[in-house]
Amino acid sequence: MSKKVILAANWKMNNGPKSASEFISSFMDEYSPVKGTEVVFFPPALSLSAVNNLIVSTTPAGASAASQSIRTADVSGATGIEQSISTGVQNIYWEEKGAFTGELSAQMVKESGAKYVLVGHSERRHVFGETDEECAKKCAAAEAHGLLPMLCVGEKLEEREAGITKDVVLRQLKAGLSMLKDPSTSITAIAYEPVWAIGTGKNATPEDAAEIHQVIRQWLKENFGAHGEQVSILYGGSVKPENARELLDAKDVDGLLVGGASLDVSSWLSICSV
Ligand code: PGA
Repeated sequence: MSKKVILAANWKMNNGPKSASEFISSFMDEYSPVKGTEVVFFPPALSLSAVNNLIVSTTPAGASAASQSIRTADVSGATGIEQSISTGVQNIYWEEKGAFTGELSAQMVKESGAKYVLVGHSERRHVFGETDEECAKKCAAAEAHGLLPMLCVGEKLEEREAGITKDVVLRQLKAGLSMLKDPSTSITAIAYEPVWAIGTGKNATPEDAAEIHQVIRQWLKENFGAHGEQVSILYGGSVKPENARELLDAKDVDGLLVGGASLDVSSWLSICSV
C-alpha cells in the first residue's frame, strides 16, 4: 500500500467549539505523527476554526524534530509540505453566495482553512435527500475553490440483498464525479461506506470491503488513468480500534472514515496508531 493512508474523523453533529478544542488539545498531547499517514478532522463547521487554530499552534507530543516539519494545517498557507493533520467540513452548498439561508459555500470553507469536504455522506443522501446530481454540483463547487471533495458512496441493505451493490456504487461514483473539470488534481480520496454498516456496530468484513474497493479502483483507473492508482479509497462503517488494522490491511483499502469511534480521544488515538 504505497499511497497515502488517510484516517478521517467524521464528528457529524457532535463537538461544538468548546468540546472540539478540548478534544484536539488532548489528542495533540498524545498523538505521534506517522509518515505517509494523514489524519483529517471533519468537525461541525462551527468548530472548524477552533480545530484549525489548535492544529497549527500545537505540536503533537510524539512529533520528533523531523516530523514537526510535516505538521501543518492548510490555514498556514503552506504548499508542497506533506500535511499530517488537516481538516474538512461535512457539507457545502454549490452556489457561491446569496440568499441561501443556512448554507455554506466552498469559498467560505476554503477561506476558513479546510482542505477537504465530504460530499454525499449517507446521512446527507438518506436523511436530507441529497441526489447524485447535487453531489456532482458540490464536487464541482469544491474543485472550483480549491477544496478537495471526498465523495462518499455506498449501498443500502436492501440494495446489497438485491445483489446490486456494485451498480449502486458505480452509479454514485460516476454521477458524483461527472462535473469535475480536472479530476486528476481535484480527486484524491473516495470513501466507501455501506449504509447498513454506518453506526450499526456491524462493519463490512475486510473481504467485502476489498471487493468493492477493487471495483472502485478499477473504475478510477479506467477513467482517470494512472491517477486512479493514486486516489486513496477509505472504508467507513462501524470502524473501531479492534477492527481498524484488519480493514486497513484489506486490498485497496487506503484509509478509514470513522464516526462514533472518533468521538472518544483514546479510541481515536488507538485507530490513529494502528
Ligand atoms: P460510524 O460512522 O463509524 O459511526 O459507523 C461512519 C460514518 O458515518 O462516516
